Amino acid sequence: MSNPAPVIAIDGPSASGKGTVAHKVAEALGFHFLDSGALYRLVAMAAMNRGIELDDAPALAALALDLDARFDSSTIKLDGHDVTDAIREERVSGAASKVAALQPVRDALLARQRAFREAPGLVADGRDMGSVVFPDATLKIFLTADAAERARRRYKQLIEKGMSARMDVLLQEIRDRDARDSKRAAAPLQKCADAVELDTTGIPVDAAVAQVLALYRGK
Ligand code: DC
Repeated sequence: MSNPAPVIAIDGPSASGKGTVAHKVAEALGFHFLDSGALYRLVAMAAMNRGIELDDAPALAALALDLDARFDSSTIKLDGHDVTDAIREERVSGAASKVAALQPVRDALLARQRAFREAPGLVADGRDMGSVVFPDATLKIFLTADAAERARRRYKQLIEKGMSARMDVLLQEIRDRDARDSKRAAAPLQKCADAVELDTTGIPVDAAVAQVLALYRGK
């Protein structure tokens, strides 16, 4: 059997800069990219569109299995509609965090996530990439930044996209989501023993990208 394609797993809390760092690492290496959080956001959005309750685990799992989601380099489509920006709205963030706490939903998304592992390699961004989805990843990174810095980054992102945002609300939402993501029973957010922790507070994105690339090349 041939060796599976290498995986760089990048896990960490919301707005830690994971998405940007993971994307740039993938670009630098010519690797595929998995934004696993987008899958949970898509399930949440599809559920809201269809009027499915956010605690109806069997219905949500069925939805996750059948999700008509398409990713290309810059857009994400749900049921054929471009939802690239819409899935980043705060109401979807809150709903995604609820559906992500349900084990049947996580199970339903497992095969879909693993299918992204193709040559020449994959950079996978999420919460449980190193612990559950790709436990044999070549390199596991746990990327963090303090909550206030993460709220500032989220604020900047939303304002740049022309959306409205309030710092105090964002900070509270980030703290609530951290608590929910870390305390849930199903695949809680935590650093794996074999992950390298990178704190990006006050560090420019390109420096974080360079650190990840150096760690990967050193493997
Ligand atoms: O990374 P993000 O903010 O787009 O993730 C959206 C939600 O999905 C967030 O509440 C955490 C959850 N999530 C998860 O539980 N497991 C993943 N692998 C990725 C995201």
